[in-house]
Amino acid sequence: MARQAGKQSYGRVVLVSFLALLAVGLVADFLWASSHRFSSVGISLPSSVTTVIGKLPPDSNEKDTKKKKDNARERKLSATFQDLAAPQLQWEKMAAAPVPRLDGAAIQIRNFLFVFAGYGNINLVHSHVDIYNFVDNTWGGRFDMPKEMAHSHLGMVTDGRYIYIVTGQYGPQCRGPTAKTFVLDTDTNTWSDFIPLPVPRYAPATQLWRGRLHVMGGSKENRHTPGLEHWSIAVKDGKALEKEWRREIPIPRGGPHRACVVVDDRLFVIGGQEGDFMAKPGSPIFKCSRRMEVVFSDVYMLDEEMKWKVMPSMPKPDSHIEFAWKVVNNSIVIVGGTTEKHPETKKMVLVGEIFQFNLNTMKWYVIGKLPYRVKTTLVGYWDGKLYFTSGQRDKGPDDPAPRKVVAEMWRTKLILNP
Ligand SMILES: *[C@@H]1O[C@H](CO)[C@@H](O)[C@H](O)[C@H]1NC(C)=O
Repeated sequence: MARQAGKQSYGRVVLVSFLALLAVGLVADFLWASSHRFSSVGISLPSSVTTVIGKLPPDSNEKDTKKKKDNARERKLSATFQDLAAPQLQWEKMAAAPVPRLDGAAIQIRNFLFVFAGYGNINLVHSHVDIYNFVDNTWGGRFDMPKEMAHSHLGMVTDGRYIYIVTGQYGPQCRGPTAKTFVLDTDTNTWSDFIPLPVPRYAPATQLWRGRLHVMGGSKENRHTPGLEHWSIAVKDGKALEKEWRREIPIPRGGPHRACVVVDDRLFVIGGQEGDFMAKPGSPIFKCSRRMEVVFSDVYMLDEEMKWKVMPSMPKPDSHIEFAWKVVNNSIVIVGGTTEKHPETKKMVLVGEIFQFNLNTMKWYVIGKLPYRVKTTLVGYWDGKLYFTSGQRDKGPDDPAPRKVVAEMWRTKLILNP
């Protein structure tokens, strides 16, 4: 009661003072001087003044005027965060995955999509595999991962039977990565240990290339600092042919969440970011706290010369795409992701487009719109159709910030530019 009354009298004082000072033209000085004095009773004068002024003309054009103003402002901002024009596609909703997943991993082998790990929510991580069968469009075959295997931000690649699972984040929230590395034999669904990476990495780019398992980039132990290191080790049929990892040419730009793809004896590293959320210092649960990331559109390529070459950039910066791609007819297709944060709100902005990098022409195309903007999708391709499942979707058509972690599975006919 006392607080309420106090507030009201302060409000009256504010209003009276405001009008008086307005009359003598000292508004600016007053705002500056009083913002401190009144903050302890929860009155933020500058914003209440803005509100009063904003509410003065209560006419029906208010919304339009506001819209026009917003549009004018949007035009002045850098456009990298905005949606791109893209063809509408016919989407078909399929059976949802048994659990929702963010930052999971997926590998397609023939008609099976093996879907691993991921956050169910920020405090809960999965430690099992679900399998989608593209032939009868059902989920099944759940089995556990080894207890020591990371739960998200894994490096992962297959030779068509064995899946190599390299390092990644161990535990929920913003815990750090483990160096532990495993192999799954998908003929028997049995696991074996593999030689740990020399140091733990968070979401490193991972591929098999020329008989060697390559791991590069990602973030260092704190999740945020980009790593440039690149290692490889000779492998065959799920086993290492060497005793230790070998140092390779560092990647030009480090950081997590990139697509790493081998096509026609060339290794591509696409998109990604520098920086990521970090654990709050001293937090016993490693609570995630935002750090500014820089998302990039860069594409780098390694060929037999073993020198990085710069390729045409993506149509916009794109990150969180490590398992969001497929190679179809000599094109790399990439589904969703995150782009540069909103320049004013600084909120993360999700991507709602599908991209094609045609390796015949070395050209990028925007080939379609997703049902919603979504990051860390897990992507498959079967019988002319592109599938995606899981990830974190947007708040709605008008708000590209991340919200719900989803289990949904969707498919559409894939139409590529020749
Ligand atoms: C891939 O190429 C084959 C053979 O030319 C063609 O029949 C098929 O439609 C192509 N697929 C896509 C998705 O473009």
